This record gives sequence, C-alpha cells and structure tokens, in this order.
Amino acid sequence: MNVVILAAGMGKRMRSDLPKVLHPIAGQPMLAHVIDRARSLSPKRLVVVYGHGGEQVPTQLAADDITWARQMPQLGTGHAVMQAAPWLDETVPTLILYGDVPLTTSDTLARLCEAARSSGDGKRGEQMAILTVELADPTGYGRIVRENGRIVRIVEHKDADAATRAVHEINTGIMVVPTGPLKRWLKGLSNDNAQQEYYLTDVVACAVAEGVPVTGVHPAHEWETLGVNSKVQLAELERIHQRNLAYGLLENGVTLIDPARFDVRGSLSCGRDVSIDVNCIFEGTVTLGDGVSIGPNCVLRDARIEAGAQILAFTHIDGATVGPASRIGPYARLRPGTVLAEETHVGNFVELKNAKFAAHAKANHLAYVGDAVVGKRVNIGAGTITCNYDGANKYQTVIEDDAFIGSDTQLVAPVTVGAGATLGAGTTLTRDAPAGKLTVSRAKQITIENWQRPVKKPKG
Ligand code: UD1
Ligand code: CA
Repeated sequence: MNVVILAAGMGKRMRSDLPKVLHPIAGQPMLAHVIDRARSLSPKRLVVVYGHGGEQVPTQLAADDITWARQMPQLGTGHAVMQAAPWLDETVPTLILYGDVPLTTSDTLARLCEAARSSGDGKRGEQMAILTVELADPTGYGRIVRENGRIVRIVEHKDADAATRAVHEINTGIMVVPTGPLKRWLKGLSNDNAQQEYYLTDVVACAVAEGVPVTGVHPAHEWETLGVNSKVQLAELERIHQRNLAYGLLENGVTLIDPARFDVRGSLSCGRDVSIDVNCIFEGTVTLGDGVSIGPNCVLRDARIEAGAQILAFTHIDGATVGPASRIGPYARLRPGTVLAEETHVGNFVELKNAKFAAHAKANHLAYVGDAVVGKRVNIGAGTITCNYDGANKYQTVIEDDAFIGSDTQLVAPVTVGAGATLGAGTTLTRDAPAGKLTVSRAKQITIENWQRPVKKPKG
C-alpha cells in the first residue's frame, strides 16, 4: 500500500519553536514513531506531508524510503493529501496517518487495512475503511454519520447541526482509501464549509455516492487514537506509552518495583529474573542479562549488563559493558568505552572512561580511571587518578594483573604498572613501576621538635 502521514499542521498550543511533530515521545520525535509504524506495514510508497516548521522536519528525519511533500500554506487535510497524491501508486490502496497521533498499534492498522481489502460487497481493493471510536465527549471531532448502520459521511464539528453533534462516534482521521478514486475525489473537493478548508473527510460522501463501501473499524484501545496538541497531551501520551512498555516487561517476567516510575527511551531487553527499582531511565540500546538487578535512580544508556550483575542506586552508565556478577555503585559513573569483565567492583564516586577491567579488578571508592587497561584482581585505592590528558593528547595507563594501587595515587600516562607491583599511597607515578616491587614517590615524613602553634595576639 501507500502510506501518507499528515504532519504539516501548526501546533500552536504547544507554545514552542520546535515543530509539533518533532516533540519527543520516549526520547524520539513523535513523527518518528508514526514513520516506524508505517514501515512495519512495508508500504510501497511512504509520503510525509510537512509544512509548518519548514525544513526542520525533513532534515531531522531524512531517510531514503521517505518522500517529503511540502504543503504551504496549509489549507486542510484534503489539501494536505493532494500534495502527496502525485507520488501515490494507484495499484494499491492508501493509508492516511497523522504525524501527531503516535501510539496507534500495528495490529490495529493491519486490521484497518484488512477491512479495506476484504469487507463488504464491492470489488476487492476498492473499499474504504475508517478508524472510528466512540467518545464520551466528542466535541471538536468529525462525526461519523450512519444510515441503516452504514457510514454515509463525516461531518466536522463546526459544520454539524445539533442532531449530528449528538453522535458520539468520531473520525480518528486514520483511514484507508482506494488510490485511483482518492485522486479523483481530491480534485473535486471544495472549501465551502465553516473553516474554509479542503476536508479529506469529504471523500467519504464521494465514495458512498459511487457505491464504494465504507467500513468503520475500532481500535483495540482508545489511546491508540489520541493526538498531541499541547504539552499536557504530550505528557499524557508519554505516560501511556511508558505504561505500555512497563506492562510488556512485567508480562515477560521482569520485576518493576513501580511501573509508573520507569522510563524507556530506546530499546530495553531483559533476561529472566531481572529486577528494576524505581526512577530508572533506559536510553538507546540497553541489554540486561539474567538475574541483573538495577537499583533506584539509575540512568543506563547504550549499555550491556551481563548475568547476575548488580547496579546499585544512582549509577550512571553510558556506552559500557558490565561483566557477569559485577557490583557497580552506588554513585558510580561508567563512560563510553568502558568494558568490565566478570566480578569487578566499582564503588561510589568512581568515574571510568574507556577503561578495560579484567576479572575481579576493583576500584571501590573515589577514583578516575580513563584510557586504562586494568589486569585481573587489581585493586585501585581511593583517590587514585589516571592523568591521561596533558591538555592536548590522551595517553594510556596499563596496570597489570595483581597490582595494588595505594590510595591517592596519580598515574601520569603513558605509564605501566607491572604485574603484582604495589604503589605506596600518595605516589605520583611518572615512570613505569616494575613488576612485583613496591614503588613509592613521597616526601620523607619528618617531625619538627619544639614547634609551637601560632597564637592570636592580644587586642589593643
Ligand atoms: C481532523 C478531521 C476530523 C477528525 C480529527 C481527528 C478533517 C477535515 N477533519 O480534524 O474529522 O475528527 O482530525 O483528530 O480531516 N494537517 C496538515 N495540513 C493541513 C491540516 C492538517 O498536514 O492543512 C495535519 C495536521 O498536522 C494533523 C492532521 O492533519 O496531523 C489533523 O489536523 P487537525 O487540524 O488536528 O485536525 P482537524 O482538521 O481539526
Ligand atoms: Ca487535531
């Protein structure tokens, strides 16, 4: 089929300089959600009608499979589809979606398309199907007018008389239309109505006049048809979307201490017996292995956490891999390029960047380890810093297996600590430390005999 996504509208009530369809749901522009949904239907043509906000929309969401049709000025939904018409393949039907209705499910769209293929008494592929819903308060929406149970037309709220306004079944705007007739009907639209717009909805009456059957299909859930016109609605849809993601995980056996305090902005995949405490945010692609537990208030982005690892409260992980049965946090920060092997420990106020830790290595307190290769069973003491940057270039620190780095040590890279070496506390290491030996750089401790503390001079 063809898919046309209408995304030219203004979004005045967002009170924002950003075009409405670029506002994010789960960290992605809402239009990107609609485009993904369209792609799940493998369309022959995918046309997005844009206008308000100028080139920002096509620039940000550019892709080879999308044709961008500019609508300027915006004279209504029918006028919007006219801009897309030249690209539509007449041998297949056209599905119309809205760029500001981001939560429609693929299942519902597939049912709508199926209804347009197989319903009624018309020729195959020459039918119309409209996604409709019964609303307690239908104010503002186009009403579905039926005669003897059959849809005969859609009347916009502003054009409707009292009897039509009493109808609760509304047009969600999402519909499938046979493409050849659609192009013809669009040419005949007039803007002689309350809003002086070219209404796409007027094609329903055209279809009925030509004997083309029109079917109504209901979505599985009302939220699938909700649109975003304001920040309030944006926040509401975000919560609905997050709740859906959370329940999907719960149904797959993930423990979420509170599904309402949990956010996925990307893709999160979880093994068995994963537990996630409150207020965590998952961004990009995150994988949690079997038995992983994530403490409260953690942010994980593009991370891989392997089986049995524990991520404790307030930990921030970005672009890192944590090996099996490791313990990270509380208050740890793993930055891009960090790869930790099994049973590593990274404790509070430790920052790792591009650091490779072999099995059982530990940095339990207050350290910065950047551009470093750390061997097995290495212990990095509190206050240790790799001085990896001279203001212009970055250098590597190598700490071989079983080394012990005393507290408050500076490793001035490039530098290597040999296997089994010990660095005394407070060492500033500027040359390699030999394997198996104690290296210490430290002023000798002295005690001044007869020294007196200064005392305050008496006043006056
Ligand atoms: C439209 C329907 C109405 C339906 C409602 C559901 C028409 C005439 N009316 O109302 O029956 O109940 O949606 O929300 O179709 N757009 C453009 N170009 C335009 C105008 C709109 O691209 O010139 C896009 C908007 O960006 C939006 C969508 O079309 O994504 C719907 O526009 P909106 O103004 O919200 O809907 P209405 O016309 O009020
Ligand atoms: Ca609307």
